[in-house]
Amino acid sequence: MPEVKPEAKPAAGLRNVVAGESALSSIDGQRGVLAYRGIDIHELAERSSFEEVVFLLHRGTLPTRAQLEDFEAALVRERPVPAGVVALLRGLPAGTHPMTALRTAVSALGAFDPDAEDGAEPARSRKAVRLTAQMATLVAAIDRLRHGTEPVAPDPGLPHAANFLWMLKGTRPTASAARAMDVALVLHADHEFNASTFAARVAASTLADTHGAITAALATLKGPLHGGANEAVMQMLESMAGPEQAAAWVRDAFAQKRKIMGFGHAVYRTEDPRATHLRRLSRQVGEEAGDRRWYDLSERVEAAVRAQKGLYANVDFYSASLYRMLGIPTELFTPVFAVSRIAGWTAHVLEQLGNNRLIRPESEYTGPRDVAYVPLERR
Ligand code: COA
Repeated sequence: MPEVKPEAKPAAGLRNVVAGESALSSIDGQRGVLAYRGIDIHELAERSSFEEVVFLLHRGTLPTRAQLEDFEAALVRERPVPAGVVALLRGLPAGTHPMTALRTAVSALGAFDPDAEDGAEPARSRKAVRLTAQMATLVAAIDRLRHGTEPVAPDPGLPHAANFLWMLKGTRPTASAARAMDVALVLHADHEFNASTFAARVAASTLADTHGAITAALATLKGPLHGGANEAVMQMLESMAGPEQAAAWVRDAFAQKRKIMGFGHAVYRTEDPRATHLRRLSRQVGEEAGDRRWYDLSERVEAAVRAQKGLYANVDFYSASLYRMLGIPTELFTPVFAVSRIAGWTAHVLEQLGNNRLIRPESEYTGPRDVAYVPLERR
């Protein structure tokens, strides 16, 4: 009799499994290439803006000048958030993690949104733009409220990234800080079927509402193995006495089999192309502020991790020191990721709904079979 070979076990964590089609972003993990709609991330990081990237992801092509101006104006119009959502944020207990507050606020936005239950176009696209605009306003408001200060109203005269820093700090960012923030938003905007995006697509595929899909994405982004890593990186850097301690700290972490946040990637086997820009920006913003402390420490940690385990920095590693130098509080790092990734999440929801089929994979059952039911009195 021919030997019946057992079928290959499904890859743990669905690694290397193609779970669907998308025309939004592509990654070549071996060569370290990321492109949005075919355009290399290096080009976008150097030449584009967040607003332009949102248009590209939502609409499929780079905008003409007139289209970009209209789109920028639409994003500006959609920035305010309902007073009811701000009131709800005020009612959260002190010490609520900003990601918990953000997830709650976005879910609540769904109750206030005039298009909430309209799943057809053009309401879908309106919600994609509105949520992208509102995410920055919410994150800034959450931070102001938890520090006992009042939210700062959006400034219609400022582009998205500069306006975010304005709403956060209540002071005008320098041109250089605004550009660094803008590039960071461009770099985080989309990354194919990462965990939070996949969560959004699964929810959208049930024809649940857009706010629900984005709430699922936010819940998923919070985890330290995903978006929460940038916050963990800063905590790690803060726990080190100085650059001279970096190599020993890393050796100790590996000896204790602890994961070092900001390194390794499920897909990239070489440098994450986003890390290349974030490293540059972290150094530049640090130098301009006359404070290279966090950049220098990061560089030493990166060298030690590379030398000792051969792991490369991912997007979260240098975003930590960059955000610190931009004056963003550590607990806000993951919400700032969401300020950008909302562009990708909403684009994926639009793409999913444009050609929807319920996402419903199967599992391989590994438990016992044909088990007899034992009545309660005989157990
Ligand atoms: N620190 C220490 N070891 C790491 C590591 C890290 N950051 N990343 C990977 N490794 C090790 C793993 O322990 C594993 O070792 P083993 O083969 O001896 O078990 C090996 O490298 C392969 O990595 P693995 O965890 O299988 O890769 P993955 O694709 O499952 O995981 C991540 C990818 C991102 C979850 C993982 O690299 C990680 O946890 N990184 C830290 C968190 C982080 O920065 N997340 C943000 C991602 S953008």
